[in-house]
Amino acid sequence: MAVISFLEEHRTWVLTGESCTYALRLDEDDVPTHVHWGPPLPEADVVELMESTLPWWDGFNDPNEGLGELAADGGTRYWTPALQVRFADGTRALEWRYADHDVTDGHLRLFFEDRHYPLRITLHYRLRGAVLERWTELGADTDVEVVRADSATWALPVFEDYRLSHVTGRWAAETQLHRSPVPHGETVFGSRRGITSHHANPWVMVDDGTATEGHGEVYGIALAWSGSWRLTTTRSSTGRLTVSGGFGQDGVVHRVGPGRPLTTPVAAGLYTDGGFGAASRAWHAYVLAHVLPHPDELRPVLYNSWEATGFDVTEAGQRALAERAAALGVELFVMDDGWFGARTGDHAGLGDWQVNRERFPDGLKPLVDAVHGLGMRFGIWVEPEMVNPDSDLHRAHPDWVLHHPHRRRSELRRQLVLNFARPDVAAWAHEWLDRLVGSQGIDFLKWDMNRPFSEAGWPGERDQDRLWVEHTRAVYALLDRLRADHPGLRIEACAGGGGRIDLGVLTRTDQVWTSDNTDALDRLRIQHGYGQVYPARAMSAWVTDNPNFVTARSVPLEFRFHVAMAGVLGLGGDIVHWPEDDLTLARELVALYKDIRPVVQHGALYRLRPPVDDGVTALQYVHGDRVVVFAYRQAAHFNAPERPLRLAGLDPAHRYLDPDSGVTHSGAVLLARGLPPGLPTGDFASRVVRLERVKI
Ligand code: DGJ
Repeated sequence: MAVISFLEEHRTWVLTGESCTYALRLDEDDVPTHVHWGPPLPEADVVELMESTLPWWDGFNDPNEGLGELAADGGTRYWTPALQVRFADGTRALEWRYADHDVTDGHLRLFFEDRHYPLRITLHYRLRGAVLERWTELGADTDVEVVRADSATWALPVFEDYRLSHVTGRWAAETQLHRSPVPHGETVFGSRRGITSHHANPWVMVDDGTATEGHGEVYGIALAWSGSWRLTTTRSSTGRLTVSGGFGQDGVVHRVGPGRPLTTPVAAGLYTDGGFGAASRAWHAYVLAHVLPHPDELRPVLYNSWEATGFDVTEAGQRALAERAAALGVELFVMDDGWFGARTGDHAGLGDWQVNRERFPDGLKPLVDAVHGLGMRFGIWVEPEMVNPDSDLHRAHPDWVLHHPHRRRSELRRQLVLNFARPDVAAWAHEWLDRLVGSQGIDFLKWDMNRPFSEAGWPGERDQDRLWVEHTRAVYALLDRLRADHPGLRIEACAGGGGRIDLGVLTRTDQVWTSDNTDALDRLRIQHGYGQVYPARAMSAWVTDNPNFVTARSVPLEFRFHVAMAGVLGLGGDIVHWPEDDLTLARELVALYKDIRPVVQHGALYRLRPPVDDGVTALQYVHGDRVVVFAYRQAAHFNAPERPLRLAGLDPAHRYLDPDSGVTHSGAVLLARGLPPGLPTGDFASRVVRLERVKI
């Protein structure tokens, strides 16, 4: 339960949520100044803490260095600027003046203005479960250039040392987890690509270097934004560490003025004293309770045609795949790229969203009806933000793409980016998407986005930089509108795999395509990094063919299934050509997945052993009375004896039944000593163990 109090005498606000207290005050110059973020503290203790928050002082430092709630550029504040403004007369820097505050339903708003210039700043704080959401709003009566506008600056307590956890990657190698000491000075993570990116993901976690999976204090910050972004850690010799972040990138300037306010995306902050495991579970609980639009639903088992057919799409081929998919227990059939315009390869047709009549002589409806007739929902691939230069759309509207005059238009994957900040482009996209979904009985869109921005100009527009933010906002608005007008529609976010995974896109989609790399072994690592913040409930994972499309590795079918079953299971192979034995196994494993799905998709994740090259990787989900354990061994070395897996999150006073073996285990023993994983011998061995708390 959220409690927000104002200690008037101390000009201090204290916010206490599910598992933490956050406090800030106004300093003598009205600067919003950090007081506490961490374990719950009563108000009286917060007051005591205020007396001792100032770091040491000398003639070269601001006494409140590193404590700004939104470290604004100006005066003696030399910290990494979180807010940098330039007024019309050339004056830079901000001088804060407090105006008022408001508390409504766990949401604190602090109203400020500049001491002289007509700039208004509102700082927002909203408690949601274990998470504190923060963002900033700027408004002005005359034009102000905003060089930087972070959502929030987060000050951490002074620790002996600091360690950072974050993920990096690239196409087909997303979300790989790193933990490393925080360097002194500034460390910047971000994307200048106009999308979240495969290369970094907008979150960091910080601990003092001693936290483990099960123990220790961990602080996490994540941005709800799907465009360019930046998160900066600043570590000073005073011992202070901050994390500041928001949308945008160097050199892109926002212009705020009459009728043109600027609202940053949410930056979500989380504190736990339960280690990295508890941090992830708290993030997942937050996403399920406050981010995803239909969290209570179970995501269906889907089939996707991309790896089976590539661009060689035909009605007969899709029907054959759909019939096979239905027989395997698939619930949602998704036809991928290649169904429209002249899109017979990646060279042409993108932007021409009329069904290809050579491939579908009677339109899409017969296939959609056939899929529905097989008892499945129908989904379709779209990439609305893109155009092939070789397309009717581009020939008609060459000015619709991002471009600068006298500059080349760089192609990636032979395509250009449409400028969704233009109202005519956004209206065009809405028109055809609305018609497609409404007239063809489409239940699901896979919304793809296959290249970053370049030459991001908007000739003729006075304030061209705004396209960086407004493109993303227009995509959000379109998703929101389609969802509102078609309440049954569900959406998967994709950007060449995991290039657009973040809390912003998850607010308006139902799942994300995690990576184009479906190699089960690589996926263990990708899913490990993904799951640090994002839940299994949104993690789309397909079983595909041997050898793998991306890595050429061959992995047994059961192992491939077991890895994908730890998320939202899908099939993506050429199932029409699977041998009978594989089909039989696939049918059994799809049925098993449907049984364990509520536990995986709605349960709490315990990572028992992280992905390793040598030894067993294991994870566990707990949901009510039910438990599912996944164990994977890539390579068996030296005939090593099996080590038991110590389970977590169980009730020590109860017994747990394994319905497959009929054996019951004591909860206390499973916690204290563990469960023998019972993996088959040899390489690529995997197993799923189901357990159920026995009612006493
Ligand atoms: C990239 C996606 O990640 C793939 O799954 C597939 O949809 C292709 N685009 C289609 O062009």
